[in-house]
Amino acid sequence: MGQVLPTMKPIIHRTYFRNELMYIIVGGLGGLGLELTRWLLGRGADRIILTSRTGPKTPYHHWCLRRWKEQGADDQVSTLNVTDRAQAEQLLHDAVLSAPVKGIFNVTMVGNLFAASE
Ligand SMILES: NC(=O)c1ccc[n+]([C@@H]2O[C@H](COP(=O)([O-])OP(=O)(O)OC[C@H]3O[C@@H](n4cnc5c(N)ncnc54)[C@H](OP(=O)(O)O)[C@@H]3O)[C@@H](O)[C@H]2O)c1
Repeated sequence: MGQVLPTMKPIIHRTYFRNELMYIIVGGLGGLGLELTRWLLGRGADRIILTSRTGPKTPYHHWCLRRWKEQGADDQVSTLNVTDRAQAEQLLHDAVLSAPVKGIFNVTMVGNLFAASE
């Protein structure tokens, strides 16, 4: 019997997101959220809900949203407040009406973690 050698397979270095699934970015209109959105869109995601209680305000917000729509993305802004349980549930309910939710990223935080532990 010959020696059985392990099969070598190439490693996939990149992370990809599925365009038929929904991703939610809590704090999506913040500085970090906009960068994360751009990254997800560049890696296959098409459907993203960005949360901000006050909605798009700056010219940069409107420019990003318009540009992504022109590129074919289905981005939506939700003004629901995720710290309120009923509104958080509503956010999920709204999302699954469009597509199954595959991922939720939370890139917002109010307050100081160190202060909270003091
Ligand atoms: N920016 C950076 O370079 C950076 C780097 C490292 C770490 N961080 C950390 O990452 C976190 C986010 O930073 P950021 O600069 O992106 O902050 P930011 O510009 O203040 O963005 C926060 C976003 O979250 C939304 N938001 C806040 N509370 C919400 C709620 N209850 N429900 C729904 N949406 C809510 C805000 O919109 P509304 O106020 O309209 O709700 C805003 O769009 C912070 O903890 C920061 O310390 C940031």
